[in-house]
Amino acid sequence: MLCARAHELTFNYLRPAGGRPQLKREPLDRSPYVFRESAELYDLIYSSFKDYSQEARDIALLLRRIHPHCRTILDVACGTGEHAHLLAADHGLQVDGLDLDPAFVRIARAKHPVGEFYEADMVDFHLGQRYDAVLCLFSSIGYLRTLSNVRRALACFREHLAPGGVVIVEPWFAPDVLEPGHTTTRTAEARGLRVVRVSQTEVQDRLSRLRFDYEIHGPGGVRHATEVHELGLFTTDEMLRSFEEVGLLAEHDAQGLTGRGLFVAKAAA
Ligand SMILES: C[S@@+](CC[C@H](N)C(=O)[O-])C[C@H]1O[C@@H](n2cnc3c(N)ncnc32)[C@H](O)[C@@H]1O
Repeated sequence: MLCARAHELTFNYLRPAGGRPQLKREPLDRSPYVFRESAELYDLIYSSFKDYSQEARDIALLLRRIHPHCRTILDVACGTGEHAHLLAADHGLQVDGLDLDPAFVRIARAKHPVGEFYEADMVDFHLGQRYDAVLCLFSSIGYLRTLSNVRRALACFREHLAPGGVVIVEPWFAPDVLEPGHTTTRTAEARGLRVVRVSQTEVQDRLSRLRFDYEIHGPGGVRHATEVHELGLFTTDEMLRSFEEVGLLAEHDAQGLTGRGLFVAKAAA
């Protein structure tokens, strides 16, 4: 499935006057935005293997079952706003979102203009309003790296719950699940743009480190870039305890939306 927004992509190619495009190697830096090289490529890459429409359907079904009056949603770590857009357009829900990365917030706002999108850190946000559901999908919680950060985020999720509201968190993997050294290659193509992404997983104690090497072919030539993402590895019991510690009663579904599991929680009575 190709994304209609692929044409928004912009690139910085190195092309000497009159010469062939050169490969540009970006140095790794310490930007807090882990998708700093790929925010504009995100929809192109992920829509090539992730079925956002099906996920939005499953979330809407789940919400209808556990909270039939659910109307308003906050999508935390919303990325490009794909879930937000689909939950609103296809399922009639009112969806706002937040993300740490201003590039994602900008893309989400353009994609779903009726939603409010906030640039904020999920461990410390106070929007002054409450929602029927707070979502945190596609393992975004793993980016918090430590359980103490997870607890801070869950406390913020709880603070934003309307009475009877639900929190839905799609986790990253538990320790001992990921295979160190595992390499995956994804290729995505649309509108004259071709991206090859090679990812390599390393595991160090309770931290997984994903190295993404991108080769981006566009009308201006080819660009190479690298990102390193670090995600914490938490057991299901540690996650359940973290929910409990902030006054949320959670259940764990081992399969969830995409096989990574799902935590579904309500405020403890
Ligand atoms: C794997 S992407 C998931 C995006 C989106 N939920 C989806 O399903 O496509 C992880 C997202 O988490 C965001 N993120 C990472 N750390 C964050 C933080 N501390 N606060 C808010 N967002 C954060 C990243 O900017 C990125 O958009």
